[in-house]
Amino acid sequence: MLLGVNIDHVATLRNARGGIEPDVITAARICKDCKVASITTHLREDRRHIKDADVEAIRMLPRTRLNLEMAMTQEMLDIALRLRPHAVCIVPEKRQEVTTEGGLDVVSQQDWAIEFTRPLLEKNIEVSFFIDPDVHQIAAVAKTGAPFIELHTGRYSEAFGTSEEEKSFQDLKGAALFAKNFGLKVNAGHGLNYQNVHRMHEIPNLVELNIGHSIISRAIFVGLEQAVKEMKYLCENNSKNLS
Ligand code: PXP
Repeated sequence: MLLGVNIDHVATLRNARGGIEPDVITAARICKDCKVASITTHLREDRRHIKDADVEAIRMLPRTRLNLEMAMTQEMLDIALRLRPHAVCIVPEKRQEVTTEGGLDVVSQQDWAIEFTRPLLEKNIEVSFFIDPDVHQIAAVAKTGAPFIELHTGRYSEAFGTSEEEKSFQDLKGAALFAKNFGLKVNAGHGLNYQNVHRMHEIPNLVELNIGHSIISRAIFVGLEQAVKEMKYLCENNSKNLS
């Protein structure tokens, strides 16, 4: 499996003091030098962490694949069509939430999802929808023509090590297999960490994991380069432990 690193928390820390440290672009460069598959950032409507200028600077970095997470709004569509990131992941967004809570409800916005996806695909931007492991949501994404879903692993991550783990894991696995029948490619992310990520290898067709919080947290103690390399190892090798 490939690793995409979400660097939003670097911007959160920077914004805490309103200055320029820690520098988001340096973080993106370190991740790129570790040869991760993508740099992922969520440009929120309220710009509470990543700012427009950050996204633009990451987009300009050579040999860096930008995966832009964004809400399904006209403002974000216009930004994506102008910046042309390599990929966009369409996520739900509520102003009050601490992080992205639950997947996007594509079913209830089917027509807008189709309309939203079309111009992105025309610009050769890879589109994915961040959804819960739910057959109805998967079928709705298939109708948009988007090539990818990203499965929300939050419930699995929270249930890891409890009696709920197996059920939440099987939901993910079933959803990934169901998506394959529609020809959809499958990414996953949210809440994954160094302890729970290994079970993602039991899901046969996962392409990429997008991981932020646990990597940036570990980076405080071991540095970003090592934190990224360790997670990359766990994504690339079916192992519970670092070698
Ligand atoms: N994927 C998506 C679509 C997300 O919104 C997030 C959180 O911003 C992540 C992955 C990464 O989640 P975490 O920070 O918990 O690793």
